[in-house]
Amino acid sequence: MGPVNVSPGPAAGLIHPATASAEIDLEAYQHNLRQLAAHVAPAELLAVVKADAYGHGLVPCARAAREAGVPWLGVATPGEALALRESGDTGRLLCWLYGPDEDLTSLVAADVDVSASSVEQVSDLVAAAATCERSARVHLKVDTGLHRNGSPLEEWPALVGAAAEAERFGALEVVGVWSHLAAAEDPDHPSTDAQLQAFEEALEIARAEGLEPATNHLANSAGALLLPRSHHQMVRVGIAGYGVDPAPGVAASAGVALRPVMRLRAQLVNVKDVAEGQGVSYGHTWVADRDTRVGLVPLGYADGIPRHASSRAEVWVGDRRAPVRGSVCMDQLVIELGPDAPEQVGDEVVLFGAPPAPTAEEWGQVCGTIGYEIVARIGARVPRHHVGAGGAAAPGRGQGRDTR
Ligand SMILES: Cc1ncc(COP(=O)(O)O)c(C=O)c1O
Repeated sequence: MGPVNVSPGPAAGLIHPATASAEIDLEAYQHNLRQLAAHVAPAELLAVVKADAYGHGLVPCARAAREAGVPWLGVATPGEALALRESGDTGRLLCWLYGPDEDLTSLVAADVDVSASSVEQVSDLVAAAATCERSARVHLKVDTGLHRNGSPLEEWPALVGAAAEAERFGALEVVGVWSHLAAAEDPDHPSTDAQLQAFEEALEIARAEGLEPATNHLANSAGALLLPRSHHQMVRVGIAGYGVDPAPGVAASAGVALRPVMRLRAQLVNVKDVAEGQGVSYGHTWVADRDTRVGLVPLGYADGIPRHASSRAEVWVGDRRAPVRGSVCMDQLVIELGPDAPEQVGDEVVLFGAPPAPTAEEWGQVCGTIGYEIVARIGARVPRHHVGAGGAAAPGRGQGRDTR
């Protein structure tokens, strides 16, 4: 018997990387971050790497961002912050979302900047600082109109008062005042001016209490791209770093060329003919209107492919687009290759990536959602294959090649 040529198997629980993977172009990520840094200078950049870097892999993206000179990283949860510290990241890192039962001591001990939106959260940070016998770095969050997280304006004087007192005792250092925009991608939205104004007022109140926060920040990607008035000393950029426009035309109107970072690809695992009148996939929601050929893509809604893509989205195969036909299933979906199509099992399909393939923004539009959700929801079963930068990355979950 001759030698059997088999590629290495998948990591536990993952799809085999030859069969399907999300390729993450870290050079494109660095390119985007450098473009954005130049666009907002002299404001500093914070790269948002929460939610597994919007599905792109927390540790490889964090390393690539640092390598590109990004001074700040931002995450939502303490678990994300601590994972970065465990990976060896020692740079400035802001964490902003935690519950009342979470112990902040490990964050303070790990030199993580922490957000506080209430007097209670300031007290918790003071207690954590006492336990660690060091001062905690805090960013005070004010709600300027998103009405999500942050201190309501009526409670803001009490919050800055408590923080100022703790700073006088050496328990805290108030690094920044911050907030989040509701509709920065639409410069004509009336909320934006109101939020910019409320932020100035909140800063005045903080300064009147004796605070001198040096790193104040309000802008997300759309604010960074479109609203210089929102930049202050730092901008928090998530989606634009990953090469996805916050909304159609935003990056272009700012004169910034973004490169998509994620390319979701798979092999065809089955190809067959269907006759006119035959239904395809569950419920036969699509019925062939001619004799044609279909191909099977081994990704489904368990992998984050929206079921709303059923008979709506397109993929790239060969040198052309091919439509998704019928219902997206849990692990697989069917595309129409067309009559006499030359594709065979093993040929590559790109679900989304850089044009001329469909983009994540396009998938968002056809699925009634946003590009953010399309990339962030790609599931844990899909191996991430990081290419292009971050050579220092060590293999392991979310840290190297073919990992997640
Ligand atoms: C508090 C905060 N800041 C910044 C961002 C980054 O936003 P974007 O991805 O639009 O740049 C997010 C993302 O949702 C966020 O929650």
